[in-house]
Amino acid sequence: MKVTVVGQGYVGLVTAAGAAEWGHDVTGVEVNPDRLAALQAGFSPFHEPGLGDLIAEHLEAGTLTFTDHGREAVATSKLTFVAVGTIDPSQRWDTLTIRSVLAEVVPHIPDDGAVVIRSTCPPEFVAQLSSFVGTIREEAGRHPIAVLLNPEFTKESTAVRDFLHPDRVVLGVAHDPRGRGVALLRDFYGRVTAPVLVLDAIDASLSKLGANLFLATKISFANELAAICDLYGSQIERVVEGMSYDPRIGASFLRAGIGFGGSCLPDQVALTVRDASSRGHETPLLAAVDMINARQRSAFADRIDTLLGGAAGQRVAMLGLTFKPHTDDLRAAPSLDIARALIAMGATVVAFDPMEVARRRAQIEVEGLVVADDAISAITGADAIALVTEWPEFVSLPWRTVARLVSRRIVVDGRNALDADALLDAGFIYSSFGRGQRVPAEFEPGQAARTRTRRASPVGLELAVGE
Ligand code: UDX
Repeated sequence: MKVTVVGQGYVGLVTAAGAAEWGHDVTGVEVNPDRLAALQAGFSPFHEPGLGDLIAEHLEAGTLTFTDHGREAVATSKLTFVAVGTIDPSQRWDTLTIRSVLAEVVPHIPDDGAVVIRSTCPPEFVAQLSSFVGTIREEAGRHPIAVLLNPEFTKESTAVRDFLHPDRVVLGVAHDPRGRGVALLRDFYGRVTAPVLVLDAIDASLSKLGANLFLATKISFANELAAICDLYGSQIERVVEGMSYDPRIGASFLRAGIGFGGSCLPDQVALTVRDASSRGHETPLLAAVDMINARQRSAFADRIDTLLGGAAGQRVAMLGLTFKPHTDDLRAAPSLDIARALIAMGATVVAFDPMEVARRRAQIEVEGLVVADDAISAITGADAIALVTEWPEFVSLPWRTVARLVSRRIVVDGRNALDADALLDAGFIYSSFGRGQRVPAEFEPGQAARTRTRRASPVGLELAVGE
């Protein structure tokens, strides 16, 4: 099937490349010239496992092309997906872009085609969508077309797999009197074995919102439970394990730590609380989810401050910047708030993340942040190590060696990802969420184990192993 995907961000590009993998004839429309050039040269503009290979393969095969000429592309397409941004940097809905994209391409879609909104949109906009598109067609002197929603549930870092093997496909019908749009979308998803649910547009849109709100709630619940575990010296992982065999509960999305970041969960919780409130309806559960998530970040910085006996003048090695591993995405990443808080306390924060682009952007976003070229440079001479993103290379660090490089042996694990026993064996004080605080035997109260290492220059590898 000939399809066009307008907007080549995370959602649009994964949709375009995945559709090409299914054998469709796909055109991706992108107006940003740098991004378009990268795509036309066969590169993914962001780090998403497996995506670069799909782009290169299908570009070469001719089943995937990229252009900035949206009108021409949609004119010969059965399906036009729209996947442009709908939230501005200050966490507010912004439908100007999607409205102008629709105004531009909708007049050119063939009468037997359909427009499919893949962007997450505010419910008010979803409610108006059918008449908005209908008016554009009418003013262009064209027949009405089918208007549908097809929310995406992909996760960054597994987005390609999630697209190709979804657990469900949700279709929302805004205008489709003869069912032609749904039939086209069923053909499009012909290879998928998962259930295809056909809902009203507003129900489809709220099922996407509901899924994200529930995931965010699970994480904040786990963080609340972890704080209770800490009160009683209990271990959150064991507690969750004990709960998880109940199929009503399950084990996923109950990992405690510094909370959720990324492009979806934080914005959607905050926007829902605000939107409902502006309609005179309070959402105390979601407000608490948001508050707990913010509290985890400040609690993490406060804990480092306490363990250091005051962060002022101390050097903190921050391991990880991206909002989760295997992405280069910094959107709403906990690292940014935590680094700002520590810097405000007077600490020197030296961060490392395997993604070079994330290091560069974080330095722009956080004033005073020092960025190292590798983990060892960040760690050397540190008074405390803060694990913020559980990249595998941090989880498998040789802690006995690291112990000889640091100035003080303190590790605060924001992702409950490290082996507490290995850290303790290496002489570290280990602090995490809902796993208690573990202190090595030789530790004297009031003072973290101090090695004989000298203080290093901000990022320099002044100290060799075994010095
Ligand atoms: C999310 C939804 O999962 C996805 O379905 C939707 O389409 C887009 O939003 P994503 O933003 O890629 O996906 O990230 P996700 O894997 O959901 O993680 C979000 C954040 O929650 C990350 O910062 C992660 O570290 C954190 N998290 C996740 C926890 O703190 N604990 C957990 O148990 C799980």
